[in-house]
Amino acid sequence: MLLCLCEISLALDSISQDLSLSDDVDNTTLVSKDGTFELGFFTPGNSQKRYLGIWYRKIPIQTVVWVANRLDPINDSSGILRMNTSSGNLVLTQDDKVVWTTTSSKKAEIPVALLLDSGNLVIKDEKDANIEAYLWQSFDYPTDTFLPEMKFGWDLRTGINRKITAWKSPDDPSPSDFSFGMVLNNYPEAYMMKGNQKFYRSGPWNGLHSSGSPHVRANPIYNFRFVFNETEVYYTYSLKNSSVISRLVLNATSYVRRRYVWIESKQLWEVYTSVPLDLCDSYSLCGANANCVISDSPVCQCLEGFKPKYPQAWNSMDWSHGCVRNKELSCENKHKDEFIKLPEMKTPDTTHSWLDQTIGLEECRAKCLDNCSCMAYANSDISGQGSGCAMWFGDLIDMRQFSDGGQEVYVRVDASELGRN
Ligand SMILES: *[C@@H]1O[C@H](CO)[C@@H](O)[C@H](O)[C@H]1NC(C)=O
Ligand SMILES: *[C@@H]1O[C@H](CO)[C@@H](O)[C@H](O)[C@H]1NC(C)=O
Ligand SMILES: *[C@@H]1O[C@H](CO)[C@@H](O)[C@H](O)[C@H]1NC(C)=O
Ligand SMILES: *[C@@H]1O[C@H](CO)[C@@H](O)[C@H](O)[C@H]1NC(C)=O
Repeated sequence: MLLCLCEISLALDSISQDLSLSDDVDNTTLVSKDGTFELGFFTPGNSQKRYLGIWYRKIPIQTVVWVANRLDPINDSSGILRMNTSSGNLVLTQDDKVVWTTTSSKKAEIPVALLLDSGNLVIKDEKDANIEAYLWQSFDYPTDTFLPEMKFGWDLRTGINRKITAWKSPDDPSPSDFSFGMVLNNYPEAYMMKGNQKFYRSGPWNGLHSSGSPHVRANPIYNFRFVFNETEVYYTYSLKNSSVISRLVLNATSYVRRRYVWIESKQLWEVYTSVPLDLCDSYSLCGANANCVISDSPVCQCLEGFKPKYPQAWNSMDWSHGCVRNKELSCENKHKDEFIKLPEMKTPDTTHSWLDQTIGLEECRAKCLDNCSCMAYANSDISGQGSGCAMWFGDLIDMRQFSDGGQEVYVRVDASELGRN
């Protein structure tokens, strides 16, 4: 008891049959083993409401990384989090009314909830020797924050899609209409959505980075990788030095996804990177078959072999109608078509794409040439000498050109377009 008095609150290391969290005067919390993260009740910003959430325990600025009942706040301090031992689920109640509950994949004989040092709240069976056999984990249900070791994307076996959704405001963690998630196009990529409108596109993974972020490279803070196989499609990152703290957050006030790094000496979160970065990152700013070049004025240009669909609108900076071909392609002469090589590109929207990771660029060209609805192709993996084949069908949407670091994209044109300029 004396030891407990030294602390401001009581801290548990697990929630089980006998141990629960209650939002009363004690304000009990669940703390991860090394003390990095804490689960408990909190009030965001100027709100009057209580939420169950996870935050960094050692950071003096309240930094909540996950919220359980973001849709169902509690309006007093009567919230209690218990383990329902007959279902094996955590249950959050207010005056015995269920506010929120987990959805364990199966019932544990002795269910126990732990907060891991990664910030992952997990339920496991105390009897299961496999320490990673989680029956439920908060990492599968992210809020607005993508933490190290989390998987951003799909588990195709369970159908779980881990995407992030911004808080409505600093006072309201309920989901806004601003989200960021992986989409299972043939050549998968992540979209930032504002309502049902695409707002920003990561570009597909090209073996080195997302096609839209060529400047994300090996760095002293974190490692990153993309996993794409029959069972999973996700991006993940891990910290190189566990004493460096970093997180990715989606924010609906500024409409950005920022990476923050905690600066201990200054006691603040510094922005390390942010997307969208500039005007050319605005989804489809230049319309179809156009290229956005941030250093040009105006930023939008038709691709070589294309002209503005409505020149008058285009010239008054209304680029939304995009560009059309100078000379229409004819399918009968498809094998006579040519491809113009565009360097340093962000590859187009992959909604209508096709992928074969087993063939190279030559075969890719031949395959594209053979199908008159194929409008562009590129290596799907640009690491090393380049490998794999991605093809695009229909209008080419949301391309941009970087000053360096982009990749080559080959765009189909009528043979007469070659050497016109
Ligand atoms: C606990 O789980 C059992 C079995 O699913 C269910 O019948 C019961 O209502 C649950 N109790 C609470 C408090 O959620
Ligand atoms: C979003 O960012 C703004 C500053 O750009 C900040 O004031 C605000 O607290 C952030 N929102 C949330 C929910 O953290
Ligand atoms: C990790 O970071 C701490 C604090 O910045 C530093 O003292 C330590 O040397 C770093 N460790 C490694 C292995 O780089
Ligand atoms: C061309 O590719 C499209 C999209 O993959 C496909 O639907 C169509 O059948 C192909 N056409 C031919 C002639 O192979």
